[in-house]
Amino acid sequence: MGLVRGLVLLCFSVMWLFLLLRATGAQSPTSPTSNSMFSNARALDALLQDYAYQAFVRPRTGVVYDGAVPSNLSGIQVSAMRLRSGSLRTKGVRMYKEFEIPKGVKEHPYVERLVLVYQNLGNWSMVYYPLPGYMYLSPVLGLLAYDAGNLMAKNLPTLDIVASNQPISIKFSELKSVPEGSVPKCASFDLNGSVSFSSVLSDNICTTFNQGHFSIAVESIAPAPAPFFSAPPPSPRVISGTPEQRQGGNNSKVWIIVGSVVGGFALLIILGLLIVLLAKYKRRKKMHQMERAAEVGEALPMTTVGSTKAPAATGTRTQPMLETEYVP
Ligand SMILES: *[C@@H]1O[C@H](CO)[C@@H](O)[C@H](O)[C@H]1NC(C)=O
Ligand SMILES: *[C@@H]1O[C@H](CO)[C@@H](O)[C@H](O)[C@H]1NC(C)=O
Ligand SMILES: *[C@@H]1O[C@H](CO)[C@@H](O)[C@H](O)[C@H]1NC(C)=O
Repeated sequence: MGLVRGLVLLCFSVMWLFLLLRATGAQSPTSPTSNSMFSNARALDALLQDYAYQAFVRPRTGVVYDGAVPSNLSGIQVSAMRLRSGSLRTKGVRMYKEFEIPKGVKEHPYVERLVLVYQNLGNWSMVYYPLPGYMYLSPVLGLLAYDAGNLMAKNLPTLDIVASNQPISIKFSELKSVPEGSVPKCASFDLNGSVSFSSVLSDNICTTFNQGHFSIAVESIAPAPAPFFSAPPPSPRVISGTPEQRQGGNNSKVWIIVGSVVGGFALLIILGLLIVLLAKYKRRKKMHQMERAAEVGEALPMTTVGSTKAPAATGTRTQPMLETEYVP
């Protein structure tokens, strides 16, 4: 019983240790950034939807209205265009800022009229869409679809839009020059916060079948941060990545150290426990054997010495002989 309980305890302890090490060691350095990026970017979308809708004053369909953003977001441009969904499907929009929307774009769920909100995040691109290891050559542009049923509405959910025949194309206008030896790529962020890369067409065009946020980026010259658990580089360390990333790395290292120390202690305690349990088990087993032996009656022969019983030897030893009695 004791041994079984001990083994169960040991298994639990080892599992706990594993979980602890996993939680500290295997922590991905980018996940906290992308989670916070995801929620920040969605909060900005909600804010910009409101500012874009405020630009509508007796809006005509198919006309671009530029919105105004508060001073704490200056540098960002927003626009709004209201469309009948039938016209979006059958005609598309020839040019909406940098976006060219072909015919065949459908929204889901169906609405009669919808609003396409345009965003140009300008110098806020890196703030809301950090892309470690990459450098933007253009501001991040956004195209999002909302229901036009209530133009006073705030915090509207986006409609899903998807291009069925040809993709939507984005013709970037304010493109920085491409650094020597770099290959520019289209970076597309979907509304779930994941990024995908594709090739740039005719120097400044990216394509998409969905709404989202888009830019052209090149890999930055600085090397990516060293992976965890690798040997430290022999040369002085090159500090790279965003401040957040570096801080994240340091945090992870601290956690690894804390985890190792705690894990080491836990291991020692577990080993100690195991030894104690084994010793107990052995002693109990021995006692058990002795008890059983007593019951079965394999007792040592007893002899009475005074009033107490004591084990006595049965065998007769060789009788001592005096040397002087020796007679050959
Ligand atoms: C900017 O200010 C507005 C109020 O004017 C506020 O609602 C919004 O949260 C602020 N945005 C940021 C990103 O600070
Ligand atoms: C972007 O530029 C505007 C001025 O045009 C400035 O007020 C704002 O603070 C800048 N934003 C960032 C994130 O640097
Ligand atoms: C986002 O995630 C939801 C649920 O996980 C999924 O239904 C949806 O298709 C995703 N959207 C995009 C643009 O990937």
